[in-house]
Amino acid sequence: MALRAYLRRLLISNELKVIMTEVDCDLEIAAICRDEFSSFSGGNAVIFEAVKGTSVRISANLFGSKERLLKMLEVDEEGLVTLIRKMIRSGTDDAATNLTNACRIPSIECTEPEYKYQELTLKGIPALRSWPQEKDRYLTLALTHSVSPASGLCNLGLYRAAVVGDQEIALNFAPGSGADDHLQMAEARGESLPVALILGADPALFWAAAAPLPTGCSEYGFAEAITGRPVTLSSCLTQPLSVPANAEILIEGELRPGERVSEGPFGNHTGQYVTRVDCPLMRITAIRHRAQPILPITVVGPPPCENIHLAKFNELLLREMLIFDFPRITDLVMPEMTAFHGVAVIAIRQDSVADVADLIQRLRQPTYLGRSRLLVLVDDDINIHDLELSWWRAVNLVSPERVIKTDKGFIINATGINRNRLVTADQATTALIRNRHYQVSSEALENLKL
Ligand SMILES: Cc1cc2nc3c(=O)[nH]c(=O)nc-3n(C[C@H](O)[C@H](O)[C@H](O)COP(=O)(O)O)c2cc1C
Repeated sequence: MALRAYLRRLLISNELKVIMTEVDCDLEIAAICRDEFSSFSGGNAVIFEAVKGTSVRISANLFGSKERLLKMLEVDEEGLVTLIRKMIRSGTDDAATNLTNACRIPSIECTEPEYKYQELTLKGIPALRSWPQEKDRYLTLALTHSVSPASGLCNLGLYRAAVVGDQEIALNFAPGSGADDHLQMAEARGESLPVALILGADPALFWAAAAPLPTGCSEYGFAEAITGRPVTLSSCLTQPLSVPANAEILIEGELRPGERVSEGPFGNHTGQYVTRVDCPLMRITAIRHRAQPILPITVVGPPPCENIHLAKFNELLLREMLIFDFPRITDLVMPEMTAFHGVAVIAIRQDSVADVADLIQRLRQPTYLGRSRLLVLVDDDINIHDLELSWWRAVNLVSPERVIKTDKGFIINATGINRNRLVTADQATTALIRNRHYQVSSEALENLKL
């Protein structure tokens, strides 16, 4: 499904607002989107038909609610859990391997892309400035496509892209990300890394590109396995890459060895502006687009924001992978406020101390939660979706020897509560007070001598 087909569906179901008044991608559009998102249960998706200084239209708030994100994937929540479980359990290996194998769906090659025009320049693409102290303009829903110089497998990642020149973009992929792996390999060979930025192809790819898929697991295969919609690819003009043929805009380019640039300040989900000085620099070699293209955007910043729905689906995927690989784990929650900080609470079936220590070692591997900043492990006798309760349990048990420092942050092992010493009401007394009748007198209240 192309972005336009998805927008048509939203139009039919009355979830699309079209703004005809001319608007500015400098602060104004972001502010309208924030207003819309906080108006009522995530608000409507929005199309800005007249964007100042360009013929490119903008679509926003595309996954502003869980229901809308499910609509994008054409599945209900139960169906999504079933599909994910099926993939994770599809083989005899671990979750990551099984999932990777289940997503090995051959993509269809096609020769005729839907982006036929080459009239746009980078300046003409209405990249966003969302917060007053931002200096650069950002493509906030650009999917970076690159191929491993070693294995030939491709990666699709959602990273912010700052327009830093007439022909240059700073790509902010983090160390350890899929694109970073590819760049490291290319640089070790002294080669440039070909990249393509995909703007507005099948909307299911937004989640696939942001999901914590194992290295080597195809984002295209994942999107297709969830939606049942095949991804059709087309060759780039100037780079040796094949990318979705139905994108609204495609930017081709390369990352030359060692070239870095400064990017920021950017208003981040932490609520603070961030700056990065060593951002990989993409040199553009071609831009292609459809007639009257529609640029998809999202507004990043302090919560609440629509991206939380992507994060909650990531939580669902991680939960299922962990439960499959570690039968001692019964649940995982990534609290909304901290979902983009790598924070998770994990419920664990009570076990011997040695078993929990072994589990912690394995969780630190990159496949699982190795890049987390804070993991809190608690016993599964409490409902960890009640965050006050998890917090209370963790605080009660925390002590220096229960805090493990990792490369990226901390793990708090708050498991191993002594169930015999839990303060709980006795059932006999509870039953007794339920069954007795206690006389309450308003007359006595008036005559009460205090
Ligand atoms: C709106 C949004 C913006 C994001 N921006 C970045 C970013 O700038 N850099 C980054 O490394 N990850 C960013 N992420 C997280 C990545 O998309 C996520 O870690 C994904 O799994 C990366 O894919 P990879 O493992 O193939 O690199 C962002 C996620 C969202 C939802």
